[in-house]
Amino acid sequence: MRISIIGCGYLGAVHAACMAKLGHDVVGIDADTWKIGELQAGRVPFFEPGLPELLNDVLASGRLKFSPDIADAKGAQVHFLCVGTPQRKGEYAADLRHVDTAFASLLDSLEPGNVVVGKSTVPVGTAARLAENLAERHPDAVLAWNPEFLREGFAVKDTLSPDRFVYGIPDGEPGVRATAALDEVYSTSLSLGTQRLVADYATAELVKSAANSFLATKISFINAMAEVCEVTGADVTVLADAIGMDERIGRKFLNAGIGFGGGCLPKDIRAFMARAGELGADQALTFLREVDDINVRRRMRAVELTRGLLGGSLLGKHITVLGAAFKPNSDDVRDSPALNIAAQLQLQGAEVTVTDPQAIDGARRRFPELTYEHDLDCAIYDADAVLLLTEWDQYRSLAPQHAAQLVRAKNVLDGRNTLDSLKWRAAGWNYKGIGRP
Ligand code: UDX
Repeated sequence: MRISIIGCGYLGAVHAACMAKLGHDVVGIDADTWKIGELQAGRVPFFEPGLPELLNDVLASGRLKFSPDIADAKGAQVHFLCVGTPQRKGEYAADLRHVDTAFASLLDSLEPGNVVVGKSTVPVGTAARLAENLAERHPDAVLAWNPEFLREGFAVKDTLSPDRFVYGIPDGEPGVRATAALDEVYSTSLSLGTQRLVADYATAELVKSAANSFLATKISFINAMAEVCEVTGADVTVLADAIGMDERIGRKFLNAGIGFGGGCLPKDIRAFMARAGELGADQALTFLREVDDINVRRRMRAVELTRGLLGGSLLGKHITVLGAAFKPNSDDVRDSPALNIAAQLQLQGAEVTVTDPQAIDGARRRFPELTYEHDLDCAIYDADAVLLLTEWDQYRSLAPQHAAQLVRAKNVLDGRNTLDSLKWRAAGWNYKGIGRP
């Protein structure tokens, strides 16, 4: 199929490369000419394992092109909207400016029978509104909403072989047409048995908000248990293993620590609460406020635990933070718990050095006042406390005896509960986990 992808950020760039990999003819469009130049040259402007190889592979096949001009979307049968929906400044609600602008400019390039597919995460009701606009200008075009569930770090795999497809479609013949078009786009995955669910617009939009809310709730639930463990002397990691063995609960997303961050979970639960408020259903989601509170509290708790490790004062103490990205295998520092904690510690008088295999440049742009060090040994050197806040493999496998020779004082905070506490204590470290005795 001939496909256009409007918006070549994280979602769009991955989607464009994957659709070309599936054999489609794809044009990726973005107003940012620098980004388009990079992608056209085979360079991915962010860190995502496997994507550079895939991008170069499909560029060489000739099936993928990039353009800064929305007019180049003309000729495609299916147009995917993949622009960002960040949190509005000073508010909880989502900022739909990019969606509205991209959609409006796409209208000039549509041809009879085209299918427009929204993939961006939007407040429920957005698709119905856009469908009305579409019907006014192009009565024979159709809009579908097809939310994206990819995780950073696994974006290629999640796009090529997702857990499920969700199609939000209108009633009647247009809906049948949209379903047929999406089935053709995703025919490879469907033939391999990937489930697909067909629903109305509102349900499809809500699936995404509900999924992210559930994941956030699961993480905050175990972090709330960590708070209780801390006052009772219990171990939240054993507790998580034990409840996770119940198939109804499951062990995934039950890792207690410094909480969730990134460009999705925090802003998506807030946008969901804001939208529910607009619809008069705010009571239904009051619990998400608590989920958010528990999550933010974890960051303050990490600062207090560090102060405790350092004998009650942060003033002038050298602290090394391992990891700046919001999670491993990503260079994304949006709402990163690790970076937030590092900045707090610095504000409270500590001298903080941050290291990360991929995220230093982005972190430096956000918090230029912190010290950054690429080399792990140099970062640890002379530290009064080492904080593992993003669980990259190289930090999980750090040898406690080796690190002990570099630091000034052997204090370690395991903000993700991934180190072997026995090994670290045996090497003389004052080890503190989250929600562990
Ligand atoms: C998330 C959703 O998983 C994905 O389906 C959606 O499309 C976008 O948002 P992502 O933001 O890439 O994906 O990150 P995810 O892997 O979900 O992790 C989110 C945050 O939760 C990270 O900061 C991670 O460190 C934290 N987390 C995750 C925990 O604190 N504990 C856990 O058990 C799992």
